[in-house]
Amino acid sequence: MTTRSLLILPGDGIGPEVMAEVRKIIDWFGTQGLAFEVSEDLVGGAAYDAHGTPLHDDTMAKAQEVDAVLLGAVGGPKYDALDFSVKPERGLLRLRKEMDLYANLRPAQCFDALADFSSLKKDVVAGLDIMIVRELTSGVYFGEPRGIHKEGNERVGINTQRYTESEIARVARSAFELAHKRAGKVCSMEKANVMESGILWRDVVQEVHDAEYPDVELSHMYADAGAMQLTRWPKQFDVIVTDNLFGDLLSDLAAMLTGSLGMLPSASLGAPMANGRPKALYEPVHGSAPDIAGQGKANPIACILSFAMALRYSFDLGAEADKLEKAVEAVLADGLRTADLLGEEGTTPVSTAEMGDAIVAKLAAS
Ligand code: NAD
Ligand code: IPM
Ligand code: MN
Repeated sequence: MTTRSLLILPGDGIGPEVMAEVRKIIDWFGTQGLAFEVSEDLVGGAAYDAHGTPLHDDTMAKAQEVDAVLLGAVGGPKYDALDFSVKPERGLLRLRKEMDLYANLRPAQCFDALADFSSLKKDVVAGLDIMIVRELTSGVYFGEPRGIHKEGNERVGINTQRYTESEIARVARSAFELAHKRAGKVCSMEKANVMESGILWRDVVQEVHDAEYPDVELSHMYADAGAMQLTRWPKQFDVIVTDNLFGDLLSDLAAMLTGSLGMLPSASLGAPMANGRPKALYEPVHGSAPDIAGQGKANPIACILSFAMALRYSFDLGAEADKLEKAVEAVLADGLRTADLLGEEGTTPVSTAEMGDAIVAKLAAS
């Protein structure tokens, strides 16, 4: 029998709330003969509270062994005063770095039922389907030197943007491979007009293209202009490849094209393991949403769609991923909305649990 191991790290704030809904989906697949070997552990503030560290070494070791990790969200005001080295976010960054999850796939798709809900005009977003590939293990998030020190009478804060050729080339390949399965276009975004690392980024992406993927249509854009184009006419894009920090910003922007940050899933993929599948962590793009945590208001769809990505990329269960995505679409078409998706007159929000239950019911009826 195939074993499918999954480590669940619910984390903080709304993380455990949205993850509880994913558990219902996993249990439902279990009833259909698709069993997952699920273990659960702590990350972020929850791990700090229990162990004094945002990621225990044992949890890190477990994450390296399983087929896939599914994470809710980390962080929150309770941890704001903590020393930087033990902040909840450090636990997530350690997972990404030590698992070497260099390609972060953040798809932004606008479901028909939500086209009216975006802050942009309906015809700008209807049918939108773009994929942002964010480099996740390097750049200014990890470059040295870094820190805060004293220079004479004043403090100086330092972070370093650093990219090697091989780091750029491997994430570029991920983007080109995805383009092959999609509309065949990649737009690479950097700021080669002001940053040397941007010049190298542009050159290496072009070289990988010319040598290995000449059939893909490649364009380059400065990231600030890219942000403008994403709001002006997002449907011009298919795959966008960009660095760690620009990717963080551009994917939050892209989230709002789809209606809500509560809708956007992500997959963070690394090199293939012995079984041929990539090392992988799946998580919603959103954070722990302290403003709504504990109120049953969170939209679980981003986390549920992240599990759909796990089915597709880690377990070779593309048909099941499609089925889950269709169930989400059907529930939205029925008019079900968590509070973040309201705005249409006369609609009453459903709770996090009600949304999860409705998706399971659609799966069962499909
Ligand atoms: P956030 O994504 O948590 O929240 C931004 C806004 O979006 C809030 O108004 C929130 O209520 C709303 N929102 C987010 N997810 C939602 C959902 N599923 N359903 C409904 N509404 C949702 O970002 P923030 O407020 O800037 O950050 C809060 C904390 O989360 C910080 O500690 C931050 O570092 C952390 N964070 C963690 C992750 C992660 O774990 N991957 C990602 C982003 C932020
Ligand atoms: C994200 C988050 C993280 C990031 C934080 C929580 C470390 O904003 O996943 O988008 O900046 O990468
Ligand atoms: Mn972010």
